[in-house]
Amino acid sequence: MSTPRALSRGTHRVPGDKSITHRALMLAALAIGKSRIIRPLTSLDARSTAAALRATGADITPLRHGATVEVEGRGFHRTAGVSLDCGNSGTTVRLLLGLLAGRPGPIRFTGDRSLRRRPMKRVTEPLGLMGARFEGDPDHLPLVMHGGPLRPIDWQSPVASAQVKSALLLAGVSGGVSVSVSEPVRSRDHTERMLASFGYTLDIRGTTVRMEPTGTVTPFEISIPGDPSSAAFLVGAALLGGQGEVTIVEVGLNPTRTGFLSVLERMGADISLSNERTMAGEPTGDITVKPSRLRATTIAPGEVASLVDEVPILACLAARADGESRFDGLAELRHKESDRLALLAQNLRAIGVEAAVEGDSLSIVGTDRPLAGPVRTEGDHRVAMAFGVLARSGGIVVDDPDCAAVSFPGFGAALAAIEEECG
Ligand code: S3P
Repeated sequence: MSTPRALSRGTHRVPGDKSITHRALMLAALAIGKSRIIRPLTSLDARSTAAALRATGADITPLRHGATVEVEGRGFHRTAGVSLDCGNSGTTVRLLLGLLAGRPGPIRFTGDRSLRRRPMKRVTEPLGLMGARFEGDPDHLPLVMHGGPLRPIDWQSPVASAQVKSALLLAGVSGGVSVSVSEPVRSRDHTERMLASFGYTLDIRGTTVRMEPTGTVTPFEISIPGDPSSAAFLVGAALLGGQGEVTIVEVGLNPTRTGFLSVLERMGADISLSNERTMAGEPTGDITVKPSRLRATTIAPGEVASLVDEVPILACLAARADGESRFDGLAELRHKESDRLALLAQNLRAIGVEAAVEGDSLSIVGTDRPLAGPVRTEGDHRVAMAFGVLARSGGIVVDDPDCAAVSFPGFGAALAAIEEECG
């Protein structure tokens, strides 16, 4: 268990990692007995997962800022006939489809308008091959799943997606069968790390992961590192400042998540890491940032999986860099909480930045000019936070800044503190 450090001026902590919190809640609900989750994310997305798990029989204490969450898991003993509202959270629905694929249905899954727009066939198709049955449009919520005995699978995923990969690995856990998933580029590996800690055999070669159902998920205690995807917004805010430095402590530094740090380094950002160690089987450390003059960069398709959630903030920083940046291979951005590719370009243009989408690429011409205009978020938390960082220049008005609460409760106050410290 980590001992919280008292934070001095210029030192910040971001909320717990979203991906790891979802997985910890789900595995704790599967284990028979009491687990403890220290510093979990308590945002709306995490609450969606907790609510769905309660509906399937787990007891979970309220997700409140600063409180350790206790989960009394019961192995999903109540699934037939339940209806699970996954809110805005793609990770909740896709991972639960996998984890519950070996359980009796009917299990109904639904979500908000954004989630009902997002593709599900990438998960329901391989789960169907494993033996789950679906009613309704298999590509969209709402849908109904009938789980049951599962078969092993060897799946080539056409997209690099940790949600797809994790859904299949968790289906392997649910059904006690082996699973192999290949993806075009390696996506985040939190599920693999957690399952290995419970005795599952994971063989990872290149972009293929193979799991043998050799483990058992038993009650556990876990301390959740800070979310690098949330830290990225504060890093961005500090970079755009004019003085001082800030440190964000105990941030997850899993290499499948830190592509944004490599890109920022190329852009000339003054960023250093310290206190590097392992926490809950995940690399973590402190990130120190000084305001920096940024230069344009090019992001290659092979890098996108490692920074998929950081494209909005990187795009907003590119708007303030010297020269023209180009982001290639952004097809997956169209399937996030909004069509982020289109929305980013539209919003950048709306505030006076030259930006264009061509195929799956986004180009942005950096500028020093004052930026002003309306930003439409469509309820997308990362679009709201990215433009919130740019809004320091005054005339940018984000229509729904509060949607940041999907992943980063308290974002407004954290941003204001960084802006105060970095001028
Ligand atoms: C997530 C995976 C990513 C990411 C999402 C969380 C996860 O999606 O965008 O915010 O926890 O597995 P994909 O890897 O499916 O693109």
